[in-house]
Formats: sequence, structure tokens, C-alpha cells
Amino acid sequence: MKHSIIINQVRALKGIIRVPGDKSISHRALIFASLAQGKSIIKGISKCEDCFSTLNCLKDLGIRVKESRENLVIFGEGLFAFKKPKKSLDCGNSGTTMRLLAGLLAAQNFSSVLTGDKYLRKRPMERIVEPLRKLGAEIDADKGNYPPLRIKGGKLQGIRYSSPIASAQVKSCLLLAGLHAEGKTTVTEPSRSRDHTERMLKYFGVPLKIQGLSVSIRKEEFAGKEFFIPGDISSTAFFIAAASILNGSKIKISGIGVNPTRTGFLDVLKKMGVKIWIKNIKEVCREPIADLIVEGNNELRGIKIGGKIIPRIIDEIPILAVIGCFARGKTIIKDAGELRVKETDRIHAIASQLKRLGAAIKERKDGMEISGGKKLKGATVESFGDHRTAMALTIAGLGAIGKTKVNDTDCIRTSFPEFEDLLKTLIQ
Ligand code: S3P
Repeated sequence: MKHSIIINQVRALKGIIRVPGDKSISHRALIFASLAQGKSIIKGISKCEDCFSTLNCLKDLGIRVKESRENLVIFGEGLFAFKKPKKSLDCGNSGTTMRLLAGLLAAQNFSSVLTGDKYLRKRPMERIVEPLRKLGAEIDADKGNYPPLRIKGGKLQGIRYSSPIASAQVKSCLLLAGLHAEGKTTVTEPSRSRDHTERMLKYFGVPLKIQGLSVSIRKEEFAGKEFFIPGDISSTAFFIAAASILNGSKIKISGIGVNPTRTGFLDVLKKMGVKIWIKNIKEVCREPIADLIVEGNNELRGIKIGGKIIPRIIDEIPILAVIGCFARGKTIIKDAGELRVKETDRIHAIASQLKRLGAAIKERKDGMEISGGKKLKGATVESFGDHRTAMALTIAGLGAIGKTKVNDTDCIRTSFPEFEDLLKTLIQ
């Protein structure tokens, strides 16, 4: 049976919490540790289903792993030491798993198939298939665009590629392929997407040239290392949002990754009038981390969001839409058409369900328009099987009058299995 979350309106959130490790960085730590020579110890890895998908695919590719409660130890044997998998590699719901592993598998000396769940099998893969073919890869997708991806690995030759979309998954896929290719591979993006791959490659000692929006890489073996994963800012965003719309709240979240390619959400919230303080900034394994303090405010202002900031807030737009409902005036989100090809069509999902709670929200082709300030009223809403929609609607329920039921919430495990328990500790 599918689970639901039932929430009653609450007055405020209070407390101090930590959130689990960043999902994007966890995927990369698992992959780069598997590519390294020798032992890597990963601390603070996310225990979400998406990251288990990556881990299980790597195990199916012959990587040895030792798991304990605190750490994960990975024994890499270098760039080309993977073994032909006995079955299709199951990426579950995880686009990051599929797109990043495709770059690595394109260069291995065997054939493999990458598949996933019913949501992932509807997501576009042409964005990696086309450039990987330019590197010399033999790769096929259903109708040229959809999983499963059938890859016949072999020798790759470096290319220069200008990506039409600012996507960290595309960039990372090509950097992983480039790490195995002869000659130089350069990837240029239209605006900067999250740069965890670049930071991690540097941390592992791989020389990388970054010039403006271009990153260049060459083949290079590297040694295993110890890696610490910071708290996930995209998971934290749900609690930050809840505290900001509930006047009288005060929460502190410590040890959060504040990589500038991921903190667009904090910039937007500050402009909307949210009281946020970023304290104790330090760098760990080349990623900046900090403690965040957020206070509630019932005088939030709607704003216009679009352009270059979109890749920096891409996963936070569903929860931003919720905040927009509680802000005075209009919040307009544009240039966010990528949201239509995430785990689900997130523009339609969040707009249609917030409307059920009474929000004045209009769906646009590449975003949405919210007339804030209208009181939300509890109702039954659907997640459509998308973790970020499920969590965003739960937070909306905290601020809605009466009782809200969010259906189909098992999907939250995709990114944040601890969400409900942590939220309960903050509710007054
Ligand atoms: C991710 C990149 C983003 C993001 C996704 C995780 C990553 O996707 O939405 O949740 O870890 O590289 P795109 O690269 O498709 O923008």
C-alpha cells in the first residue's frame, strides 16, 4: 500500500538539527572512489535510494565495498578495472546515476545496459547520447532519447562540446568520459551548473582547466582518498522554507554544503525578506560548508526569478513556489522549462496541487506565476511519485488551515528518508 503524510497546521518550528549528506556529492564520491586506485573512505554519505542505486550499479560492475554505520570504504582499482555486469544496471529513479555512469561505461572494454524505473525511463537521454557519440561511443537509446541505454564501450577520443543546456549531469557525464579518453575533452555550458564534479576531481588530484564556463580534462589515473560529505542544502531547503513561512520560528541547521552553485535558494529567500544567517563557513574536501540560522517572518515579498540563477535553484523551485504562496504580491518564475523533464513534470505537479490547497497559481510554459497572500486551506494532494513535490506539499500543509493529506509519499526515500522524523523534531 502507498503511504500518505497527514499534517495539521502548526504555529512554528524550533530547534537545532543536522541533515544527511548531500545527494549530488554522494553520487560523485561513490563514482570517483571507484575510479581511484586503492582505498577511499567516505564519511557522511547520503542513505537515500538514489545513492544506493549508484552504489549497487558500482557493485554490479565489480567494485568492492565495505559498509559500516559510520563509513563506506571503497576499493578502486583504477579507470579501466570495472567488470562486465551480469545483468542490466538498475539506476532506479536516479537520473544522476544513469547519466554519470553512461560517461564512464562508454569507455570500458565491455557492453552494458543502463535502465531504471517507470519515471526514469521517460526522461531525456539524447542530451548525453549525442555528445558521447561524438567522443566515439557506441550507444543506443529508445527512440534515440529514452532509457534503457545500450552501451558498447571502447576507445574514446576527446572533443570540444558546447552544451545547449546548463546541466551538471551532462557536464559530469562528459568529464567522466573525457577522463578516460585520448587527448583533451572540453565542455562548455551556457551558464554555470553545480560544480561538485570539478571540485572532487581537483580534490583527488586530477588536473583540470577551468576557464569561464569551460572545463577541460585529460586521461589521468589517481589515488583513493578520504572524503567527507557535507549536509544536503536541497534537503535543508524544506526546513528553511517551513521556518520562513511560520512566523515565530527559529531553527539552526549545521554542517550544510554552501557551494555557490547550489545556494541560489538562499539568495532568493533573502530578497523575499527571509531572515537567514550563514555562520562558521569553512572548507572541507574543497566544498564550503556552514551553519544556517533561519527565523520566520510574516512579511515576505514576492519576486521575479529567471535567467542565470535557475541552474542554482533548479531542485528548490517546487518549495520556492510554496513560499511564494505565503509572500505578499507576485512571485514569477520563468526560464525553468527543465523542470518539466525532472522526475515528473514539476511545473504541472506543484502548480496543480498548490491550487487544490487554494493557492492563486498559474502554470506557464517555462515556470509559474503566483499571487501570494491568499490563505491556504488543507486538502488532499498528490505527489505524483516525485520526492520533491511530496516534501514541498508537506511543508505547504504546515502553513495551511486545517488538515492536509499528501498521498504517495514513499518516494521521499529517493532523496531524504529522514525527512518526516527530522520535521517532527522541529514542530512545536
Ligand atoms: C544533479 C543535477 C541537476 C539536478 C539533479 C542532480 C547532479 O540535474 O536537478 O537533482 O547531481 O548533477 P541537471 O543536471 O539535469 O540539471
